[in-house]
Amino acid sequence: MQKRIRTRSIHSGEKKDRANRGIPPAVVLASTFFFKNVDELERHKDKSDPREEYGRYQNPTRAVAEQKLAELEGAEDAIVCSSGMYAIAITLLRILKPGDHLLILDEMYHRTEDLCSGLIAKFGVEISIVESCNLESLRSSIKENTRLFLFETPTNPHLYVQDIEAIVSICKERKVKTIVDATFGSPVNVQPLKFGADIVIHSCTKYLAGHNDVLAGVILSRKSIIESIRELHFTIGGTLDAHSSYLLIRGLKTFPLRIAHQNAVTEEIALFLASHPAVKKVFYPSLPSHPNSGVAKRQMSGFGGVISFDLGTKKRAKKFVDALSIPYIASSLGGTESLVIPYSIVVPPTIQEVETGKFKIEAGLVRLSVGLEDKEDLLEDLTHALKAVQ
Ligand SMILES: Cc1ncc(COP(=O)(O)O)c(C=O)c1O
Repeated sequence: MQKRIRTRSIHSGEKKDRANRGIPPAVVLASTFFFKNVDELERHKDKSDPREEYGRYQNPTRAVAEQKLAELEGAEDAIVCSSGMYAIAITLLRILKPGDHLLILDEMYHRTEDLCSGLIAKFGVEISIVESCNLESLRSSIKENTRLFLFETPTNPHLYVQDIEAIVSICKERKVKTIVDATFGSPVNVQPLKFGADIVIHSCTKYLAGHNDVLAGVILSRKSIIESIRELHFTIGGTLDAHSSYLLIRGLKTFPLRIAHQNAVTEEIALFLASHPAVKKVFYPSLPSHPNSGVAKRQMSGFGGVISFDLGTKKRAKKFVDALSIPYIASSLGGTESLVIPYSIVVPPTIQEVETGKFKIEAGLVRLSVGLEDKEDLLEDLTHALKAVQ
């Protein structure tokens, strides 16, 4: 029987019969691995004796992280790689070919949008944008040559929750594969494969490693899909080194506990902000005012440690952020330290948005990633900083 998530996060991928008897997995610092004789090399090459050969292909420490993540997500196989962006890039580059049509959501991490409209489009792939949480927009965007739909849930920064089951059902009918960037959900809060998604990607830099000290990514799917992505990945590189793989493994061991705390504290912070007169609007999936709270409650078991809220103007957002004393002013999310950013400064409006007056990001939007500090201290800090903009 499959073990529960906390047990899996600690034990999955870690063999009890390992030669060295240390409790933590060994950090194997090797760029290449030797063969005792040429027979052994031959057996490895004809695949009768699969084992490590070269660091770009396999590494025993990285293999533990891959197995652990596959079991956490309920996937057949996983590729752990150098960043979340690399995971997205290598997956798109492997599956798409010139003439294909790629669908992406209108709200995604801005570098993912850049990757698709820049590098991927340059290879002759047509890109269309699907409106977030609009199944009609998805249905009408699918064409004969549509191959993939890449979307996030919850999205960055408004935490819109996409109905994975409904999306998968529309896409399967038209033979379109679905790739879900579930970084903001994490395997504790949402499991897209259970709803029929083809591929799940996480930036492990966030909740999974969880300590703001390592960049990593993971691709999770069926064996056949992972095998085919792995071929290109072995050629291009983008591997995670053994030391970073170890940091990821260490982070994964406490990840369900950390997320449970972050879910609980952030929900309380969301309620506090929603009732505060200085806050114009709060975006958090469990709030009744959130446009997708129904889907969120059906699909997610917790709502994560990120909350976005609108303070009305950029000036007020700046003043508020500067008045906080606990969170660092920094990009990223999901780690032990709380991080905060006035979002319209990180992702400024485009020329088109300025011309049309229609902005995707509110000028006063603040994104807060709640860390593992005491809830009472965070609430006191937020109360104090909100006084500065009242
Ligand atoms: C939703 C999402 N996906 C992917 C990425 C990219 O991950 P990484 O920074 O590990 O390359 C980010 C980074 O912020 C993100 O927020």
